[in-house]
Amino acid sequence: MDPFQKFQNLYRKELDASNVIIPSSCCLSTIGTDGYPNARFVSLKEVKGNRFIITGPLDSRKGQELAYKPRAALTFWWPVTGKQVRIQGDALRIDASDADRYFSERPREAQVVSWVSKQGKPVDKKDTLKEQYNQLFDEFAGKKIPRPENWGGIGIEPVRIEFLAFSAERFHERVLYVRNGLQWNVQFLQP
Ligand SMILES: Cc1cc2nc3c(=O)[nH]c(=O)nc-3n(C[C@H](O)[C@H](O)[C@H](O)COP(=O)(O)O)c2cc1C
Repeated sequence: MDPFQKFQNLYRKELDASNVIIPSSCCLSTIGTDGYPNARFVSLKEVKGNRFIITGPLDSRKGQELAYKPRAALTFWWPVTGKQVRIQGDALRIDASDADRYFSERPREAQVVSWVSKQGKPVDKKDTLKEQYNQLFDEFAGKKIPRPENWGGIGIEPVRIEFLAFSAERFHERVLYVRNGLQWNVQFLQP
């Protein structure tokens, strides 16, 4: 089976069974400009074609690191169905019209936070941010909130995808798909 299809099938099963608050969460790993790996959770927006899409401000550390080395890993752990998925791939910026669409699908509160917060910059006074948020929320009342220039998305195009089905006896089943041009080579790995 095509690994994207396999991903969608397993993801759907987890989403249907899960009651966690953000079942789309996954760990995004990047290569730090100082050489140290860096990782943080993000939320998978969708799998579009052969790309795994994530979104957010692109001038914070993750954006800077992906600009420096456009390679990333995405790691999922789905506790209900007991699956791990590891993806490594090339990171490409999504185009502006797609970014507009993802931004427009966000709740208004999150949209206003995207305008107010300079993600990752030190906080002087938390109250000031909250005041700016309240002021902007009122200013945007009744209007469509535009996407801030620095907000966008990254599509990760996998070169490797590994699925692990967790086994209590530790005989995990591991299947690795390695991209070979337009084909995928499949290997079964020891646990
Ligand atoms: C479950 C979860 C989901 C998150 N989703 C996103 C997301 O989709 N986009 C985002 O920019 N940050 C998201 N965050 C915040 C990131 O973990 C991180 O704090 C932020 O992106 C700044 O990372 P950076 O400094 O490496 O750029 C999420 C955090 C958690 C815990």
